[in-house]
Amino acid sequence: MSYPIIAIDGPAASGKGTLSRNIAEKLGYAHMDTGSLYRAVAFEVLEMGGDPENADDALKGADSLANKIKNDDPSSSGFILHNAKLRGDEVAQAASVVAAMEPVRKQLVILQRTFAQNPGEGYQGAVLDGRDIGTVICPEADVKLFVTANIEVRAGRRMKELQSRGIEATNGTVLEDMRARDARDTERKSSPLKPAEDAVMLDTSQLSESEVLEKALEIIQGKMSGPTIS
Ligand code: CDP
Repeated sequence: MSYPIIAIDGPAASGKGTLSRNIAEKLGYAHMDTGSLYRAVAFEVLEMGGDPENADDALKGADSLANKIKNDDPSSSGFILHNAKLRGDEVAQAASVVAAMEPVRKQLVILQRTFAQNPGEGYQGAVLDGRDIGTVICPEADVKLFVTANIEVRAGRRMKELQSRGIEATNGTVLEDMRARDARDTERKSSPLKPAEDAVMLDTSQLSESEVLEKALEIIQGKMSGPTIS
């Protein structure tokens, strides 16, 4: 049996995570935040005292995560991808460094495809958000959205998110970090951040959370014969 797949890609703090969670809730789909996989690899590397720029260390981190996640329970609060320490900007920067390495990405492909094809009991489909879902992980996805927002809006959103988690940051450093990460993610050779040819662009700069959801649901309904959304 194959399940519908919704692929949502876009740069940091574009609103893709919130939108993906909202779509998943509305449609009864399972959701995977694939960025948390790369963050978790970076965290493993840092915890082992490794260097994210070093390809051997990065691959060790990816292997370690792949082993740990196999025996972990996604519904438990202690699930490896729910670790609050993954959310800081130091881990995000290190994530975008390890994410540029092909062997690291390869290690994570199967995890993501398995999730997309088997979203789990009780779920009607899968929503995955990331950078290469529509282009590499699920090129067969039923709906592909590419979510963007201007960089000042994105930096403002990230500041708020960090503050709400009690993480200290300044506007200047957040904006600078975001520029560096955008450049690394779009310029890398391996699965760069870019819209799939058949992706629908969604600019969230001027839209509220509920307006973004409404627009996305319209697009989904236009692309799929189901689901019926009330
Ligand atoms: O939350 P935010 O959008 O800032 O970042 P994230 O989605 O958690 O992703 C962290 C980093 O992981 C990104 O900057 C990318 O370098 C990398 N990533 C990737 O390469 N491919 C994905 N499918 C998801 C994330």
